[in-house]
Amino acid sequence: MLKPLIAANWKMNKSIRETGEFITSFIRMVKDVTDVDILIAPPFTSLHSAAQLLNKTGIKVAGQNVYYEEKGAFTGEISPAMLLDAGCASVIIGHSERRQYFSETNEIVNKKIKTARKNGLDVILCIGESLDEREKNETFEVLDKQLAGSLKDLQLDGITIAYEPIWAIGTGKTASPEQANEVHTYIREWLRKYNPDSERVRILYGGSVTPENTRTLMAQPAVNGALVGGASLKPDSFAKIVTESKS
Ligand code: 13P
Repeated sequence: MLKPLIAANWKMNKSIRETGEFITSFIRMVKDVTDVDILIAPPFTSLHSAAQLLNKTGIKVAGQNVYYEEKGAFTGEISPAMLLDAGCASVIIGHSERRQYFSETNEIVNKKIKTARKNGLDVILCIGESLDEREKNETFEVLDKQLAGSLKDLQLDGITIAYEPIWAIGTGKTASPEQANEVHTYIREWLRKYNPDSERVRILYGGSVTPENTRTLMAQPAVNGALVGGASLKPDSFAKIVTESKS
């Protein structure tokens, strides 16, 4: 069985001071947890201080985005080397908010993953269908396109997939454990066909994960962890999600 990964995506929330306050209380709450991997993705401005505070705790730090060029005249962008320099071990790529508000296509996502992996960053690749696509029974078709486009010409080492149905993000509408398991099983099969060496790839669920629904979601055999937005912003709530994830 894969060790669960519980990841916090703070999105555009928390100052450096708030990041410090969160981490100081959170590490006390999870100090005895050894059987769950934990990762926090703060905004860029908090990465360095978060990485310093989490040093030697085993809790990893991730960027929420990265650019696909290594350096140069790309005002406002952040390179993989800069994320590594700030103390990141990994980066979230292709979040639906990036696809929706910043026009990220599967092609751009693919280029970003390639540069991130080349520089030694692990990647959490986000995929997921909209409500409209689900209602039209296009979920698997959409996922096929996102997986094939985003992973084109890539090996799967260092990659984690996060299935985040857009209709469940920030809406309070979680996919039912059965819906999540069905899609995760589909993704697992897709990965097996793509590359037989895919068994170590973890598939996380994201979308209105809370301390209350974590246990039933994590009890699904094809769910290997969670990517948590809103409920990761308070130390006690995120710590509860971590402890509820233990098998
Ligand atoms: P919520 O947990 O707030 O629904 O956000 C999920 C998400 O987008 C994590 O990346």
